[in-house]
Amino acid sequence: MSHKIISEQDFDQLWEQTSKTLQTMAGHLTDTEARFLTMAAAIPASRGVILEIGSFKGRSTIALAKAAEKAGSAHTGLWAVDPFTSPTETCPDLEVPSSYPEFCDNLKRAGVTDQVEVFQGFSYDLAPTWKEKIRFLWIDGDHTYKGAKTDFDLFSPFLEDGAIIAFHDTLHSHDGPCRVFANDILLSPNFGECGFSGSIAWARYHKQPVTDETLLAKKRSLYKKLCKLVAITCLGQEISGLPKLQYRVLRLLIPHGNIKHQDWIKAVA
Ligand SMILES: C[S@@+](CC[C@H](N)C(=O)[O-])C[C@H]1O[C@@H](n2cnc3c(N)ncnc32)[C@H](O)[C@@H]1O
Repeated sequence: MSHKIISEQDFDQLWEQTSKTLQTMAGHLTDTEARFLTMAAAIPASRGVILEIGSFKGRSTIALAKAAEKAGSAHTGLWAVDPFTSPTETCPDLEVPSSYPEFCDNLKRAGVTDQVEVFQGFSYDLAPTWKEKIRFLWIDGDHTYKGAKTDFDLFSPFLEDGAIIAFHDTLHSHDGPCRVFANDILLSPNFGECGFSGSIAWARYHKQPVTDETLLAKKRSLYKKLCKLVAITCLGQEISGLPKLQYRVLRLLIPHGNIKHQDWIKAVA
């Protein structure tokens, strides 16, 4: 893979501009998380397109589009998939029948409309015709276990060697993304570098099984910590009182702050 890697100074500038654009927009993404998406899209780990599952009003879509533009002409492809009708039990309540008009307005205002290929429908309706190799698979749609697992099963076969996969809300009470990340990623020999940023869990896919003992030890350690969270939130358990407090303490044991530019370069080099 040959392309010019964006410098730390240019990345900081890109993030400053992107965060200003996002400030006025509704959505479910913290600054730490939007910064992570900006880094993953601006500094590619492989060839291929970006696929976003779950766009809502376009907050993450805009961060990805602005960053992909900086990644060089071979890395600009970006797909956004959402029925825009908030159709599952884990989605935010919509005050209007569809988030699509606001999604379009937001993309237009951010100047990224032409950069995004939009599929207005469910991820599983796109899957049968999907052919593109993916460099960054961003899963933020249906957070039930069935929903997150379906998205992983349908689209992970399209990950390019070295690609990044990321799930939103792995450190929140929905058990779907957290369980899939623990079982299908941390326990898989084909994922290596990994971590958390905000409530995003991310990992790098490798066609050949990973044998580096440092990476395997890190995966084992994260798995042990994550399993304790899954045990509290699994099977649709409502958490309150003592379990909620326990959850918060256990979550603190998982490092999930901002990723430094140099650490990302090291992870995807
Ligand atoms: C948490 S929101 C996404 C937030 C968005 N990424 C942002 O940055 O604001 C979840 C979205 O996923 C969509 N959704 C739910 N199930 C889906 C599926 N199977 N495929 C695609 N989108 C889905 C919902 O319509 C909703 O807009």
